[in-house]
Amino acid sequence: MQGALGAAEMRRLITGFSVTMAVSAVAELGIADHLSHGPKTASDLARLSGTHEGYLTRVLRYLASEGVFEEQPGDLFALTERSYWLRSDVPGSMRPRAIYMGSAMSWMAWGNLLQCLRTGTSAFHVAFGEDIFDYLKRQPDAAATFNTFMAGQTAASVDAVLATYDFAGVRELVDVGGGRGALLAGILRANPDMHGVLLDMPEVIATAQPLLDQAGVSDRCRLLGGDFFEAVPAGADLYVLKFILHDWPDDRCIRLLRNCR
Ligand SMILES: C[S@@+](CC[C@H](N)C(=O)[O-])C[C@H]1O[C@@H](n2cnc3c(N)ncnc32)[C@H](O)[C@@H]1O
Repeated sequence: MQGALGAAEMRRLITGFSVTMAVSAVAELGIADHLSHGPKTASDLARLSGTHEGYLTRVLRYLASEGVFEEQPGDLFALTERSYWLRSDVPGSMRPRAIYMGSAMSWMAWGNLLQCLRTGTSAFHVAFGEDIFDYLKRQPDAAATFNTFMAGQTAASVDAVLATYDFAGVRELVDVGGGRGALLAGILRANPDMHGVLLDMPEVIATAQPLLDQAGVSDRCRLLGGDFFEAVPAGADLYVLKFILHDWPDDRCIRLLRNCR
């Protein structure tokens, strides 16, 4: 029960936040993209990313100790099978997730977890004085980070949804709180006769068009900015809520589900 291995693992967990921040920083700096064609020196990476060479070297070495990069002879750093996922050009890229996790919005909220436990107020609310979606309405940069993260992780799960759910007979589908439409785009692409409605906050809907255009489904997709607690468009065959209900207390979830019904 009290062996050295347990102690070492516990130490690692206690300092886990430093890995999160180091990964997030190199993701933000695009280091994995700079390494996508082969190893580079820390000096080159510092120049390419506009960073301080000495500190960058230490962070790269630290992450090499976690298997995120490989340090090679000649002061070179290379990608590994872990940092491959920080490249922005690979399907399923985790770069947006890594950037979000270290962003002030996420970081400051996690920093108030103890307060949350003591007061019963969400940590995000303790940190920012409002809930996350009200905050995002007024913070376009933070909203872009969040929405890019959502779209990225959702795009990575589209195939699993398509393989699991039978959409036969669905002529119109509403993606309730569908973000920029990553899931809806995937479903529409796989079902050429289907039409869709993307419902989300007006600020998010305003940024959704490029993703739908890129997927080639814009002509079958209606963009609808609104408040899903007020109303959800009627008459569709299917209502999808992905990654929505966990955001809200039960009374709000019931209101939203009633609107869908
Ligand atoms: C956790 S994200 C999930 C996004 C998307 N379904 C996905 O899985 O990628 C929650 C979404 O709900 C949207 N949302 C929050 N409050 C809303 C409201 N009152 N009306 C409409 N959309 C809302 C947010 O803008 C955000 O896109």
